Amino acid sequence: MAAPAALDGDVIVVGGGIVGLSAARALAAAGARTVVVERQRVGAEASTAAAGMLAPQAEAEEGSPLLELALRARDHHSALAPALEAETGLTVDLAGRGLIELAFTAEDRRRLAARREWQVRRGLAVEALGPAEVREAEPNVNPEVCGGLYVPGDRCVDNVRLVRALAASAVARGASIVTGRPVTGLVVENGRVAGVTAAAEVLRAPVVINAMGAWAGLLAGDPLPPPVEPVRGHIVAFDMAPALLRHVVCSPRGYLVPRADGRTLAGSTTERAGFDKTVTAAGLRAVLAIALEIAPVLADVRVADSWAGLRPGTPDGLPVIGPGALPGLIHATGLYRNGILLGPLAGEIAAALARGLPPPVDLAPFAVTRFAAARR
Ligand code: GLY
Repeated sequence: MAAPAALDGDVIVVGGGIVGLSAARALAAAGARTVVVERQRVGAEASTAAAGMLAPQAEAEEGSPLLELALRARDHHSALAPALEAETGLTVDLAGRGLIELAFTAEDRRRLAARREWQVRRGLAVEALGPAEVREAEPNVNPEVCGGLYVPGDRCVDNVRLVRALAASAVARGASIVTGRPVTGLVVENGRVAGVTAAAEVLRAPVVINAMGAWAGLLAGDPLPPPVEPVRGHIVAFDMAPALLRHVVCSPRGYLVPRADGRTLAGSTTERAGFDKTVTAAGLRAVLAIALEIAPVLADVRVADSWAGLRPGTPDGLPVIGPGALPGLIHATGLYRNGILLGPLAGEIAAALARGLPPPVDLAPFAVTRFAAARR
């Protein structure tokens, strides 16, 4: 059965998470007929399961190509949040305060000192804190803290609100979003992409953006699918008002993220358990241990909720952003632990490629072709 003509377009974006919505928003603004095809609901997977950290300095390693992309993506959020609010009236609660990373052991202190050293060399804002300074900045953290780092530029955003605002903006700009429609494969004609299949339907477009997150490797017909693997992360939400913390607070083992609504989110685990989002006792135990090490006061706080999400992980931990193995196919996936941070920028880069424009950053380290040899 052919799809109604209204669902055909200039660009089909597969996946209605932050990446896909950002791509659609940018494409629609440029006048492209854009259809987002989402197998469930908008933001149903990692985009809303995440805690919303925007933390390139806490997450990226020295010399990694991810660092430059992630720093750029952090700046991008600063411009995006007010733009979305002006367009949609929806706030995304981009935090005003930075991130504090804590040390509890000599090894933690060594790691923090090493990170501070290379970040200072790189010209990034980062400040060493003594235990008293940590406690002054965050009175609820564990009194056994033996040092810390203050990273003023790292922060958080409410990713659930971000999904809503991006979707509202994309639709207001003219994009179509089709939900409940699992895309199963590419339509390939004369050696190039001509659309996608969704069950018995064919949706036609000369350009397809794969923004399928952890499912990005499952698009039939792609000769070189991104080798993305789901990596489960548990989150526990504590209910407390007023909020327990002022900053995002991390240890080398995990993090606490304060939300504007008073909840504190704790994360996370890194589990290779396939496409299984089950909340397990072991996952909860690990996250509760992280949370109680950072802020023992949480022991008496009501656990409001818990869930698990699937990060799209790649073998080298770097994203897959750039042209696919067929003309007309573009990838924007594999954002792993930085999906909320990188998502809007990755989506906009994919949109630029879809329009035949040069990408604003060097995409060579993120090319899917880096995995070609492994498949031979
Ligand atoms: N960015 C934090 C996580 O993936 O758990």
